[in-house]
Amino acid sequence: MDPRMRSLMSDNSRYVESFRLFLENSTEHQCMEDFIETKLPAIISSIGDDKSAIKILGVGSGSGEIDLQMISKINTRYPGVPIKNVIVEPSPEQIISYKARIAKTPNIDNITFSWNNITAIEFEEQVDKVEQKEKYDFVHMIQMLYYVKDVPGTLSFFKSCLAPKGKLMITLVSGNNGWSTLWKKYSNRLPLQELTAAHIMEILSSMGARYQSYELLSDMDITECFIEGNRNGELLLDFLTATCDFKSNAPAELRDEIINDLKTPECSSHRDGKVIFNNNFSVIVVESD
Ligand SMILES: C[S@@+](CC[C@H](N)C(=O)[O-])C[C@H]1O[C@@H](n2cnc3c(N)ncnc32)[C@H](O)[C@@H]1O
Repeated sequence: MDPRMRSLMSDNSRYVESFRLFLENSTEHQCMEDFIETKLPAIISSIGDDKSAIKILGVGSGSGEIDLQMISKINTRYPGVPIKNVIVEPSPEQIISYKARIAKTPNIDNITFSWNNITAIEFEEQVDKVEQKEKYDFVHMIQMLYYVKDVPGTLSFFKSCLAPKGKLMITLVSGNNGWSTLWKKYSNRLPLQELTAAHIMEILSSMGARYQSYELLSDMDITECFIEGNRNGELLLDFLTATCDFKSNAPAELRDEIINDLKTPECSSHRDGKVIFNNNFSVIVVESD
């Protein structure tokens, strides 16, 4: 890979800014909100049965927007039962945003928050030092597994954190969308690993885990990526390629090839003069043993 192709994750402020733009331009969070309204209640319907408190573990929670909506559903299912919410999030900026969101959220008096400003693997190492391992009724990893090195090891560890009747919820891009098209072709020339829900399901099957998957149809308006000098477009390109300042740092040939591919039917459709990237993703719900 060209040495100038630095991972977007190495610049946290730029990563957070481009992720925020991705959320603004995509239907990602609307799709999750629909899922939380329509499917989550059945998924969490027995996680807290016969328990005096419900323990939740969020891994890579970002600014907590989705976490708080899921917690609200669990609170509604188990009114009055205290909820202990543990967060593992390496970005200090995201933790500040999460705390600001909590401050504006009503009806959360029975929820306690405990913060771990570390990565998933650091959390695992921390837990491994403790003799009596804490178990959780709901563990979630929403769009974060791309950033861990040992995906099977991470899955196995967080699955082992589940209490009886507990659920592990994972979301990741689907095996057949714009992202997977890009990654199949370019993962050896970009600072990212090709990882989709299809890979996760293969790993889970080989572990003998019981799981169910749901496909969510989502898209992202990437029209600004094709406007010369457009800052939003440049940040979206960074997010799409996981590269810090892709437009300036990618070799010209790679940059032009990717920008062209983004417009092809394998990645995007064209609607009302806009280029709409296929952002379909999957939710996978893993059962405890
Ligand atoms: C794509 S964002 C998703 C945020 C949030 N879950 C959502 O869906 O809105 C990925 C999150 O994973 C976090 N992250 C990155 N590397 C991580 C790691 N190794 N362990 C845990 N979290 C990580 C990032 O800081 C970021 O907040």
